[in-house]
Amino acid sequence: MPPLQQFLDLAAAIAPEHRYRTVYDTDLHVLMPGKEPIDADTLEAFSRIAFTGRTVVDLGCNFGFFAFQASRRGAAHVLGVDCEPRVLEGCELLKRHFGLPHVSFERHDLDDAASPLLARRFDIAMLVEFIGKTFVAENRVASALAFLERLSNRELILSVQKIYWIRKELGTTPRRMRERYAPRYVDGGDFLLLDYVRDFFAPRWRMEALSPMAEGYEKPRKFLRFTPEHSHA
Ligand SMILES: C[S@@+](CC[C@H](N)C(=O)[O-])C[C@H]1O[C@@H](n2cnc3c(N)ncnc32)[C@H](O)[C@@H]1O
Repeated sequence: MPPLQQFLDLAAAIAPEHRYRTVYDTDLHVLMPGKEPIDADTLEAFSRIAFTGRTVVDLGCNFGFFAFQASRRGAAHVLGVDCEPRVLEGCELLKRHFGLPHVSFERHDLDDAASPLLARRFDIAMLVEFIGKTFVAENRVASALAFLERLSNRELILSVQKIYWIRKELGTTPRRMRERYAPRYVDGGDFLLLDYVRDFFAPRWRMEALSPMAEGYEKPRKFLRFTPEHSHA
């Protein structure tokens, strides 16, 4: 059976909560709808990353959309990482369908502080569309950022929603958020995630927005690039 058909059969048997990203063919036509399609702004922001000749790790890769894109854009090697074995099986089938030899997939858990992945270094470490409402509400953001930071000395890419409405989106209260985070990140009913992420990496890394940004609340996640504040090159 061709790898694409095997993928579609496998994906149909995977629980919907693990089928996050819509799966596209090389020409961007939909192979399997997911919870989250790719939009033009995301592709535009992603196109601003220079992948040629670089080694890349994509944490929480789901069906590997960004890992495959990085490989198509000339990365020397891309490692896609996820904790779901069946999702990773799907990635292997898609890799065969796409014929992209310089992508591999491994199972690792970002919650594992002793993960063997933490001994490795990549030119670019990515954490895309990983930090969401639950992560923010439960204050698991710092550990995910710390994991990402261990994997590259050169470039970190992540996407986050700038601001969350605490009651409506996070389902909690400003008082609870002030117990979990420094009060400066709680502004009335808003939680200022972008500021938190920027400050987490400062002064070691400088933040640059790859997505256009307006003032105040904006819903879609924004792509950010962090590069070392003091280059040792
Ligand atoms: C919201 S999806 C993002 C998918 C992908 N980055 C994208 O934008 O298409 C998050 C992915 O991270 C994986 N994941 C969640 N917790 C994880 C953990 N602790 N370690 C590794 N992967 C994890 C999930 O299985 C899921 O595939």
